[in-house]
Amino acid sequence: MNYQALLAPRTAAMGSNAIREILKVVARPGMISLAGGVPAPESLPVALFAELTHAVVARHGAGAFQYDLTEGFGPLREALAGYLGGKGIRTTAAAILTASGSQGVLDALGKALIAPGDAVALEAPTYLGALQAFAPYGPRYVELATDEDGLRPESLAVALDREKIKLIYLVPNFQNPTGRTIPLARRRAIAGMLQASGTLLVEDDPYGDLRYEGAPLPPIQTLAPEHVVYVGTLSKVCAPGLRVGFCVAPEPLRSWLVRIKQGVDLHTGTFSQALAAEYLAGGHLPRQLQRILALYRPRRDALLEALGRHLPAGFHWSTPLGGMFVWVEGPPGLDAEKAYRRAVERGTAFVPGKYFFPLPGRGAATLRLNFTGADPAGIRRAVGILGEVLEGEGNVRPAPAQPTTVRRASAESARCPGAR
Ligand SMILES: Cc1ncc(COP(=O)(O)O)c(C=O)c1O
Repeated sequence: MNYQALLAPRTAAMGSNAIREILKVVARPGMISLAGGVPAPESLPVALFAELTHAVVARHGAGAFQYDLTEGFGPLREALAGYLGGKGIRTTAAAILTASGSQGVLDALGKALIAPGDAVALEAPTYLGALQAFAPYGPRYVELATDEDGLRPESLAVALDREKIKLIYLVPNFQNPTGRTIPLARRRAIAGMLQASGTLLVEDDPYGDLRYEGAPLPPIQTLAPEHVVYVGTLSKVCAPGLRVGFCVAPEPLRSWLVRIKQGVDLHTGTFSQALAAEYLAGGHLPRQLQRILALYRPRRDALLEALGRHLPAGFHWSTPLGGMFVWVEGPPGLDAEKAYRRAVERGTAFVPGKYFFPLPGRGAATLRLNFTGADPAGIRRAVGILGEVLEGEGNVRPAPAQPTTVRRASAESARCPGAR
């Protein structure tokens, strides 16, 4: 049987997720992982979930296990409207669509909007899962330039000027993979461009609540609500296994997404949504968030301190004020994939950064490091090994004094003072 011949072209366009392959390696005993992007298991409030499970059964009975509306479980949408209000997003339960993770929203958006050849503009590098969600629909990726403060608005202006961009995809807070955040002035500039050009932005915000310092910034959605689909998730602030994501989308876009979701899974699991509703409405999020931040902040600090101590000259990295990732840029000539193989042999894993670039042939000298999966002692050990591996990486040449990707530091994202 020739299974290959059965594949639709859109399926053939789907690459395998390199990170999932890497995560298989990470599961080996004794490996210290800076590779994943998942919440620390000890951050998941299992005893609370047991209580909430009882509360869900007592409150909803059989209803928690029944088919439900495609738009989402009513009490969850109510609770989400309040949660989003706290971010300055003025919405109602009716305007919210829940989904099976924010990944479910990204897939539905791709299906609803992208026709083969449509121009999709995104940061380079960007979230690999978005590239995977959009790829089957045949987009033509337009890479937007970034610096220490995330997307450079002038790069977006050029893209909008040159061609018809179907949609823009951005992760403005503590971006995956760079950890960088777009400051307020840039958010305003981006919102102005969306309004002037009539273009749609997909604002993906899984990490906004994971802020270790500084004040939260308004979502771009609040600055141009008619031009933004705001995408959120409870994966990083409650539990990813619930698979509860959501979006606020202008009409008629939201209705199109509902129609698409009907064909995909009818609705997101009722029980998961009911549990998430109980979590939000019961006021557990702020308490749990404090615990998560207290767990992750010292891990971030340990990683940054260890990078300053162990990485050879010519390396630079982001200093994220939140989220889960630090982005490392090595000197020209570094083959991060080769370094990855050596590091794995020595019990340390990370993700080579090239996988996060929309177009091939970029980012060979970059690395994404996660700091939420290992404890501070493990992180220090792993970075010690990484430093030795990178030091021994034969092709490394000293970086130019002022690398083009490293620009003016700002309050949001500064070059690590310890970087050499
Ligand atoms: C930027 C970004 N968007 C979306 C997701 C998907 O999250 P989920 O589907 O669990 O909500 C992730 C997961 O890591 C992510 O980093």
